[in-house]
Amino acid sequence: MTDILTYDTFSKIEPVAKGWSDDKKHYIEYADGIPYRLKSPFDFSFLSKYGKIFKVFDGQYSGNICFGVADGDNRYFVKFAGAPTARYNGDTADVVARLKAALPVYQDLAHPNLIKFIRAEKIGGGFAMVFEWVDAICAQRMYPADYKAFRELSLETKQQIFADIMDFHSHIAAKGYVAIDFYDESIMWDVKNQRTIICDIDFYQKSPYVGSMGLWGSSRFVSPEERTEGAVIDEVTNVYTMGATAFCLFANSDRSPEAWPLSPELYTVVKKAVSDGRGERQQSILQLIEEWRIAK
Ligand SMILES: Nc1ncnc2c1ncn2[C@@H]1O[C@H](COP(=O)(O)OP(=O)(O)O)[C@@H](O)[C@H]1O
Ligand SMILES: [Mg+2]
Repeated sequence: MTDILTYDTFSKIEPVAKGWSDDKKHYIEYADGIPYRLKSPFDFSFLSKYGKIFKVFDGQYSGNICFGVADGDNRYFVKFAGAPTARYNGDTADVVARLKAALPVYQDLAHPNLIKFIRAEKIGGGFAMVFEWVDAICAQRMYPADYKAFRELSLETKQQIFADIMDFHSHIAAKGYVAIDFYDESIMWDVKNQRTIICDIDFYQKSPYVGSMGLWGSSRFVSPEERTEGAVIDEVTNVYTMGATAFCLFANSDRSPEAWPLSPELYTVVKKAVSDGRGERQQSILQLIEEWRIAK
């Protein structure tokens, strides 16, 4: 059997046989004809209660594995903690604990731009959270076609996406939360309905937050304080996160003025947001929104 070296090539290898990869690092299983990788075999038969599987997200470092499931006309996104996923090396009990802790976060932060939580339950020896499925494209590296389509969205659409992301994060700030581990794989664009949907807020915490969760973030997004053990993570941190998001969306994370495709005035606003010094950034998401609006 051909070994699967990286996720970027995963979708290109057809057909993939069930069983161990040649190097014995991964075990490939199928659910309703869709292959996915694990570290060792796991019984997912309980998933049939949700419907028929049409998509699997198995490449995350989180320890969760996620499924697109169809039950008649209804489609769901099921996030499961408790299985030996391919890219996670820690204890699965910690993954289950983290997903359980995320439940009130989705309830508290409900918003039109957030994936809609339906229910959660202990099942299959772990924990599952069920959300509404969103037909959207995401800068999800595991799916190169989606990734490319997202990157190629028009500047106009990206400006709407950025405005929606800022709006959601001013909402979470008002609710007393701080975003942790937000990055481009958490942003979805629903092409048909022209709307932005945010997913994966599992690690969002009550603000101010002091702890090691910030160390999970993508290097293109994390602020200096998130790289510092014991530092306070708060709304001013999220101003940085928003600036990093703008650079990611509009300039592929290149922060030089040459790479910036919008006006120099807007560049000045986001460059200020990603200042290393907290005192040099906008002091709230609302202030950032206001400065962005004026510069536009
Ligand atoms: N409700 C949803 N509908 C469709 N796709 C989704 C939904 N939520 C997330 N996704 C996709 O699944 C991927 C993995 O979900 P995510 O919540 O990031 O899982 P994890 O907690 O394992 O990181 C996301 O990057 C996104 O592309
Ligand atoms: Mg994720």
